[in-house]
Amino acid sequence: MNDIIRAMEERRSIRSFKPDMPAKEAISQIMEAGLYAASGMGKQGVITVAVTNKEMRDRLSEVNRQIGGWKEGFDPFYGAPVVIIVLGRKDIPTHVYDGSLVMGNLMLAAHSLGLGSIWIHRAKEEFERLASAFL
Ligand SMILES: Cc1cc2nc3c(=O)[nH]c(=O)nc-3n(C[C@H](O)[C@H](O)[C@H](O)COP(=O)(O)O)c2cc1C
Repeated sequence: MNDIIRAMEERRSIRSFKPDMPAKEAISQIMEAGLYAASGMGKQGVITVAVTNKEMRDRLSEVNRQIGGWKEGFDPFYGAPVVIIVLGRKDIPTHVYDGSLVMGNLMLAAHSLGLGSIWIHRAKEEFERLASAFL
């Protein structure tokens, strides 16, 4: 079995993270690998943002928790010190598929570097809510 297929088979979602911040280089490598995903008509309309600031990360987690309806104190990011946000351009018809492929790449790249990851949903509602607060 080659390394890529092994990584695909071995990657699993992690729901309990160590608080240690991964090396900046590792985060950059993961994000770059994410953006190499295929995209509809090669439009490459997806961008990714890494949140490493604890205060910002905690605020995102709290909004996510409220949207999910989880009980107070629950961290829907499971203690992860880094949150990588994947944003697609709504004017590109394939933006959801494009973003999903980027997500897949991110998780596999993280796994290949020995880092755990998990896809956390509700970002759409979260950013719609945050955007409306600024309109
Ligand atoms: C679209 C999507 C949304 C997900 N949202 C969440 C989530 O909000 N919280 C969570 O704990 N896991 C979430 N997951 C992780 C799945 O529960 C997980 O991928 C699934 O149980 C399979 O486990 P595996 O990733 O270890 O193969 C999501 C996965 C996908 C693909």
